[in-house]
Amino acid sequence: MDKGLLQVVSNELVADRVYRIRLQGEWVNRKIVPGQFLHVKCGPGIDPLLRRPISISDVDQTEHTLDMIYRVEGSGTKILSEAIAGNQIDLLGPLGIGFPIDQRQKGERALLIGGGVGVPPLLYLARELAQKGVRVTSVIGFGEANQVFLEEELGSYGEVYVTTIDGSKGHNGLVTDLLNEQYGLDNNAWDVLYACGPLPMLRALQDRYQATDKEAYLSLEQRMGCGVGACLACVYPAAEGSDHSYYKTCSDGPVFELRKVVLG
Ligand SMILES: Cc1cc2nc3c(=O)[nH]c(=O)nc-3n(C[C@H](O)[C@H](O)[C@H](O)COP(=O)(O)OP(=O)(O)OC[C@H]3O[C@@H](n4cnc5c(N)ncnc54)[C@H](O)[C@@H]3O)c2cc1C
Ligand code: FES
Repeated sequence: MDKGLLQVVSNELVADRVYRIRLQGEWVNRKIVPGQFLHVKCGPGIDPLLRRPISISDVDQTEHTLDMIYRVEGSGTKILSEAIAGNQIDLLGPLGIGFPIDQRQKGERALLIGGGVGVPPLLYLARELAQKGVRVTSVIGFGEANQVFLEEELGSYGEVYVTTIDGSKGHNGLVTDLLNEQYGLDNNAWDVLYACGPLPMLRALQDRYQATDKEAYLSLEQRMGCGVGACLACVYPAAEGSDHSYYKTCSDGPVFELRKVVLG
């Protein structure tokens, strides 16, 4: 983990309240695992005082660029959305434990499930898996059509299913509505599952797959303070039988094996 100062190349609106910021600098030339995040100082002053955690959504080490895709929620992300090309962004990272992909073998089938601003880290994950020869299928869900992003980019790495809650684009409903035989996405359709999204979505996946013996990983989004394991702002209870009583999302995660955490 290091502090970095990267230059803004672009910062564009890609969906309702959602921006893609591209940053450039030599700092990008380090090992970055899909699912890791940056702790971002959103503005040049002291307000907001705390950094904000944002996932790394893509990396290009030839161009020395990395992308983050973020939704404007409050004061921090609002200030970030006002950054323009040439500005510098102060960040800490890469932080956390990302999605485990070292063991993946050519020909395996990975199911990627994302909801809303949980979708961004799946793009870099899909790219890395595809490079290993893993067959990637993505299921991404949003509230409505104007919130949809990354459908096309994920499509470069495999099949993509889009769902919207109001049915204005793709399939009508939740991502979990598609995880059945009708869509060829039941338990037999994948070897490993990776997911990132809102807590109710992750809980539904945990309930559904708790009893399978397949590898499955969830990336949790939790409010953070320090981002490096010092303040305990980000804890989740560990599942029974685990070697921990709680996990720190920032340093033990944000990615956890599906059966290891209690999503209370
Ligand atoms: C590991 C990790 C990766 C993340 N990756 C992304 C990403 O790629 N793109 C993205 O848009 N967002 C991501 N988030 C969420 C992002 O950190 C928050 O949206 C951001 O901190 C909000 O800051 P703010 O100052 O704009 O809003 P605040 O004023 O701090 O909060 C505004 C609203 O956002 C909610 N909120 C704040 N922080 C979080 C959080 N961590 N999780 C859930 N809700 C929160 C608050 O409850 C409140 O309703 C990630 C969070 C974590 C922990
Ligand atoms: S944010 Fe401080 S311990 Fe995780």
